[in-house]
Amino acid sequence: MTAETTKSRKFALTTPLYYVNGVPHIGSAYTTIIADVIGRYKRLIGENVLFITGTDEHGQKIQRTAEEKGLLPQDHCDQIVGSFQQLWQKLDIQYDRFSRTTAVRHQAIVKEFFGRVWDNGDIYLAQQQGWYCVQCEEFKEKRELLENGCCPLHPNKLAEWRDEENYFFKLSKYQTQLEALYESNPQFIEPVSRRNEILNFVNQGLQDFSISRVNLEWGFPIPNDPNHTIYVWFDALLGYVTALLEPEEEPTLDNALSKWWPINLHLIGKDILRFHAIYWPAMLMSANLPLPGQIFGHGFLTKDGQKMGKSLGNTLDPFELVDKYGADAVRYYFLKEIECGKDGDFNETRFVNILNADLANDLGNLLNRTLGMTQKYCQGSLPGITATELPQEHPLKTIGLSLGEKVIQAYETLKFNEGCEEILTLIQAGNKFIDEQAPWRLFKEGKQAEVEKILYGVLESVRLAAYLLAPIIPNLSSKIYQQLGFSVDFNESDRLNEVIPFAHHSQWGKLAVNQGLAKPQPIFAKLDPPSEDNP
Ligand code: MSP
Repeated sequence: MTAETTKSRKFALTTPLYYVNGVPHIGSAYTTIIADVIGRYKRLIGENVLFITGTDEHGQKIQRTAEEKGLLPQDHCDQIVGSFQQLWQKLDIQYDRFSRTTAVRHQAIVKEFFGRVWDNGDIYLAQQQGWYCVQCEEFKEKRELLENGCCPLHPNKLAEWRDEENYFFKLSKYQTQLEALYESNPQFIEPVSRRNEILNFVNQGLQDFSISRVNLEWGFPIPNDPNHTIYVWFDALLGYVTALLEPEEEPTLDNALSKWWPINLHLIGKDILRFHAIYWPAMLMSANLPLPGQIFGHGFLTKDGQKMGKSLGNTLDPFELVDKYGADAVRYYFLKEIECGKDGDFNETRFVNILNADLANDLGNLLNRTLGMTQKYCQGSLPGITATELPQEHPLKTIGLSLGEKVIQAYETLKFNEGCEEILTLIQAGNKFIDEQAPWRLFKEGKQAEVEKILYGVLESVRLAAYLLAPIIPNLSSKIYQQLGFSVDFNESDRLNEVIPFAHHSQWGKLAVNQGLAKPQPIFAKLDPPSEDNP
């Protein structure tokens, strides 16, 4: 293997580092689930993955929240962080690093990075005047605010007037370099709608932004000027870098950047696009470091068209949702029902309907009835069959042969909803096929070989669907694989590609049925409609 191919097999990705102003809500779960699906897909195809998540713990918002609770900020953060880790465990999130911006070693990284930017002449003192949204931790232009003086994302929190001396970062110096970056690397910001948003913003001319705060204790001090603390976003973005350090490694930039940098993908919500697509690359340019591969800005989960969030109080408790419906159900719904770059409304009735239709009826039922027939008509195995015996025009084989490629494309471009739809096409065709072929009638007529061929085609389709869905519904896929006679758990990430090589399992026709099929067990119980809909 050449150095180049070894290199291309590495994939580092991040979620945002979540604010710890409260326990995680469904919006935080949304970003993390998508990132986990990408990480799992990359592992499934054999890449070496580093998946980073974590928490953003400094700044005014957190300091105030702690004060309101009568806690020291650090104690408050420690309490909340546990609930993030708990939720990720419940949702089967396989992250490798959990980066906390209050970690001692993070301070060393921030200090060194700040020093590089300082030495490059990109930091100066000046007066900052403007409207500040504490919830966004961002200055807003007057014209960006609603009539009531709040920012549109937090329509019940007044923006606050600030007039103070701050350190500024010379963002304007990087205008041309940033424009050249977007021009030469069109995929740097995805999807295209977000890229256009950024191009429009940058075209209006970039302004320097302040990277320090006074009268705020909860943050790292500015080196050589401890009256100022470092602006929470300058600190937080560097949390991605600190996360790259090995657990016991000395916290230097060189160490942090030696193995996994540049990060391939920063997955974020569209509200924090400017920070990632403009500020972050400019900061890295100033420190003379390579840039990340891609910034992907997904849409919002909305309720009645409004972003779900803590400050509006219109969010759903993700813990309750998982307890009620299970991790796979929540994961599947978000990936299948919401186009990754767009907003999507969450509605519990729709949630239940989709899961019942796709997972309980289409997928679960197909496996169950087909395995049942295999037990009944073939004593639980189909030893004589191979896919090559099935004619090229076999309706399931026709779909199955091109499915792997289509679904790979969907995962690679983060079009998960399209990938799910493709897979469902095969499943639905499987149900139709078995109804039309009526193997129970053929069995009565003594046409055993035909019965076996039909059952093989259907079971192989269920296997392929389960394999391709494994990054999204790892528990259901494991159950399906186990009933088909494989001893595989898709949650065991380490050697997945050795145990079930992607090149083999992503193709149609690979079920070796002489390994003995299990007795059917329902994989996904039909869900009851949510209680408010019950009469
Ligand atoms: N702390 C910053 C990120 C710093 S990264 C160096 C932050 N944190 S956050 O907790 O407010 O938001 C984190 C992510 O959750 C963002 O990507 C945001 O878009 C996402 N979501 C928060 N509410 C959301 C929805 N209602 N729907 C989808 N995602 C949303 O910003």
